[in-house]
Amino acid sequence: MNSLIIKNASQVVTCSGFAGKRGKEMSDLHVIENGTVIVTDGMISHVLKRGEPIPVDEADYTVIDATGKTLLPGFVDPHTHFVFGGYREEEFSWRMRGDSYMDIMNRGGGIVNTTNATREASEDELVSVGRQRLDAMMRLGITTVEGKSGYGLDKETELKQLRVMRRLNNEHPMDIVPTFMGAHATPAEWKGREDAFIDFNIKEMFPLVSQERLAECADIFCEKDVFTIEQSRRYLQAAREHGFLLKIHADEIVQFGGAELAAELKCLSADHLLQASDEGIRAMAEAGVVATLLPLTAFSLREAYARGREMIDAGCIVALATDLNPGSSFTAAVPLLFAIASIYMKLSPEEAVTAFTINSAAAVNRADKIGSIDVGKQGDLVLLQFPSYKFLPYHVGMNIVDKVIKKGKVEVIN
Ligand code: NIG
Ligand code: FE
Repeated sequence: MNSLIIKNASQVVTCSGFAGKRGKEMSDLHVIENGTVIVTDGMISHVLKRGEPIPVDEADYTVIDATGKTLLPGFVDPHTHFVFGGYREEEFSWRMRGDSYMDIMNRGGGIVNTTNATREASEDELVSVGRQRLDAMMRLGITTVEGKSGYGLDKETELKQLRVMRRLNNEHPMDIVPTFMGAHATPAEWKGREDAFIDFNIKEMFPLVSQERLAECADIFCEKDVFTIEQSRRYLQAAREHGFLLKIHADEIVQFGGAELAAELKCLSADHLLQASDEGIRAMAEAGVVATLLPLTAFSLREAYARGREMIDAGCIVALATDLNPGSSFTAAVPLLFAIASIYMKLSPEEAVTAFTINSAAAVNRADKIGSIDVGKQGDLVLLQFPSYKFLPYHVGMNIVDKVIKKGKVEVIN
């Protein structure tokens, strides 16, 4: 029985809406004080203000008293690489002593290192570690996660990673949005033949992945010494012809024109954007590209944060994501994400909440189904131990999640 009543929450932070929010709209969370939410058969059926009578028979529902607590939409994490083999703790210590992320990548470490380990891992092994990572994310309030392939870089392993996500989507309460990222790096056997590797992805991989419906989006690492603007444009245009929604790793390490390309192609999202230019920001705002910012990556790489404040002021739809991966951001620390977004990127608590709910739902093309507490949406909810959403950035680094509800079922009690 996936039906429940969450009664008398100090705040019901609805984030109401069915599309990504830009600029000033990000500041209005549509909070209901002392509100009640009813989920019937997994879907939100009623959102009630203080004193409104409960219009269903309570005997048919699980009832949760939320006095003194805050109810929010389940968090949506729109950028992760959570399916991978092996770890890279040595590379972390090299970075701490001064090597750069790109130095390590250029000498054969980085993504290619994880690619070797992922090729060696069996599908069952990847399902098992993937499950543990999803469990950890759900305890932090995440109820939908995007996951990328891109640690195979060959036919067999790319498909294996995507099948792992399909299996986990079926067996785990988390909803998974799969993204094909065949152009994450050039593997050793294609080194120096990047254009041919892009052709391989376009001619062989896109048809296979789309035939089996293994991914909804396609993504590429557009960066100096990885894939050029021209290669990225060619890959993404072909991806669109195969029915994929477009994502791009853009302007992460150097200013490269990735944000401008995302706007030109009207990508669903452009991600990272640490070095995005003023013109790129303006163009993304105009084109309605979701600017997905990954503060835990900048933190872990000891890089300057993306200009989130300027992006919102320029009218961008800004989302936040963890970027969980074994290299640049081996964390899904949602509490730290909120703290950094507000302390260092100067997002208000309201903007940060919008960025990790309705706007991150928009970044995975699901703003009509999740990301807010509106009647008709999926019953994905997070209850906090404290009476205001403002505790999310304020209680720095602490997991203040009390319960996580997925499709009307309590999945986590912390
Ligand atoms: O989003 N920047 C490229 N891709 C990932 C990192 C992948 C890795 O280092 O394994 C990212 O940060
Ligand atoms: Fe990434």
